[in-house]
Amino acid sequence: MPLKNRPMTNNMTDAFTGSITEAQRQVQICNACRYCEGYCAVFPAINRQRSFIQTDIIQLANLCHNCQGCYHACQYTDPHEFSINLPKALADVRVKSWQHYSYPQWFATRFQQHGVAVAVTLLLAVILFLILIPRLQPASGEGFYATLSHTAMVLLFAPAFIAPLIIIGAGIRHYWRDSGGASLTLAHVGAALRSAATLKNLSGGQGQGCNFEDGDRFNNNRRWLHQAAMYGFLLCFASTSSATMMHYVFNLQAPYSLLSIPKLLGIPGGVLLTVGCVGLAWLKLRADESLGASAVWGGEMAFTLLLGATGATGLALYLATGTPLVPTLLAIHLGTVLTLFVLMPYSKMMHGFFRMAALLRDAQKQH
Ligand code: HEM
Ligand code: SF4
Ligand code: SF4
Repeated sequence: MPLKNRPMTNNMTDAFTGSITEAQRQVQICNACRYCEGYCAVFPAINRQRSFIQTDIIQLANLCHNCQGCYHACQYTDPHEFSINLPKALADVRVKSWQHYSYPQWFATRFQQHGVAVAVTLLLAVILFLILIPRLQPASGEGFYATLSHTAMVLLFAPAFIAPLIIIGAGIRHYWRDSGGASLTLAHVGAALRSAATLKNLSGGQGQGCNFEDGDRFNNNRRWLHQAAMYGFLLCFASTSSATMMHYVFNLQAPYSLLSIPKLLGIPGGVLLTVGCVGLAWLKLRADESLGASAVWGGEMAFTLLLGATGATGLALYLATGTPLVPTLLAIHLGTVLTLFVLMPYSKMMHGFFRMAALLRDAQKQH
């Protein structure tokens, strides 16, 4: 008898239901086979259950790190009649789940699929700052605050950062409710944070790494480059937060010296973010598209390049301090950051939030 699905918070599109049904078929076969048990958290999660409703499949999809190890190990891939391609089946569900839990969903579908839409938004944001900067130039100020005041930046960026976070927060709340999540303990949070911080599920189980760009050969390139991008981003975020604290709490105004906290966090952060994203984009060019969500390849590539550009343009701005290039570089950097923020609920940025939620839910199911 087919299992009754738990009612979902939002209505599902036919495409989403179709992707889940295909993943459900493959997961049932994997549950009988169990050959890939040691690769990642997905297989132990599959083995804990005998049947899977839609929300179970969405949870498995967000737990999968697309290492592609199970595809290369599998004896049931095409031309076998089972036609197993679990990395692709789960990737299809995963990206559709981010569209499903975003608002408006139409935006998420467009920006996830079309890199050109991301590029046009970036261009418009840069033009906006090229127009605004000469008009909002303050009477006094130091560093790049002589070009655009601190208050103007806060007024522009606070809503552009907070509104997307509210949309993502609402989506995560629905995801959590749909997946049957309960209250969290410190042990759950610790386990999920450890897994995310080390990208354990890209390690291939024994530390040999993933098969992303090298077919059936394992390596850790993607894991290390992701660590560079992720920790670079977090350092840049910490740098901006520390500068805000220094400004408002300690009344210490920018520009800050090379040995100040914002610079000590921001410069290595910018370098790591740029190097990590360029490396991830390069690996993406070498990987087999048919083992992922090929429909969103353009949007994902655009996101990775946009993220790398926030690091690179920030560093360029720092290096140009005191030169006439500052107004133009500031417009390009602020346009890049604004685009990244505004598109957070409609881009690959969703993966950080939803993968974290999936790791938390998995930790909860285990303990
Ligand atoms: C909970 C924390 C995070 C986890 C578990 C995580 C996991 C992953 C995984 C498994 C991938 C490769 C598979 C895929 O493309 O879907 C990936 C890709 C990527 N992640 Fe993360 N991530 C996290 C947070 C972040 C953060 C904070 C950033 C930076 C803002 C980031 C930037 C990227 C980039 C640029 C890619 C490459 C996208 C591509 O190749 O299409 N991630 N992440
Ligand atoms: S991916 Fe293939 S080999 Fe691995 S568990 Fe599933 S069916 Fe078995
Ligand atoms: S692609 Fe990797 S992370 Fe995803 S299910 Fe297969 S082995 Fe696990």
